[in-house]
Amino acid sequence: MKKIVITYQEIVDFSVLSDSDKDLMNRATKIAQSAYAPYSAFHVGAALILENNHIVVGNNQENSSFPCGICAERVALFATATNYPNLAIKKIAITAMSKHFNLESPVGPCGLCRQVLIEYEDKQKLDIEIMLFNTTKVIKISKAKDLLPFYFKGEKLKRI
Ligand code: THU
Repeated sequence: MKKIVITYQEIVDFSVLSDSDKDLMNRATKIAQSAYAPYSAFHVGAALILENNHIVVGNNQENSSFPCGICAERVALFATATNYPNLAIKKIAITAMSKHFNLESPVGPCGLCRQVLIEYEDKQKLDIEIMLFNTTKVIKISKAKDLLPFYFKGEKLKRI
């Protein structure tokens, strides 16, 4: 039998966070508030910081034709890939809030967003740290690949 183990950090004392982390989290929270989520009332915000410390944000965009909608994480990632294709992403902070209930713990990105995160992590050859957070807890995962064992690898598309 083989085993996959991932390690992550759980932070409940926010005073240990760097100013840069707190700033990134604030940007994610702020952008979540203006998500276009009239159908789910579930607001997600993502803020990522590039190697030059520029921050790019994204929020979820829903549609009356439900599958047309897109997650906050991919909005931020695709905006980055479009506007700053040559700058590496250091870190992404992700948060969510519902208009109807309190979220007890941070939410993790969906499977599609995990695959997209890994694509850019592979491309830039630099780990993307992931911070999942709510008002009470931060979970830090050191790289996107940890979130998706057996992810689909682009190299498989090449003929040997
Ligand atoms: N959503 C995100 O933005 N990110 C995720 O990782 C999971 C879900 C959005 C999609 C949809 O607008 C709403 O949350 C409910 O699924």
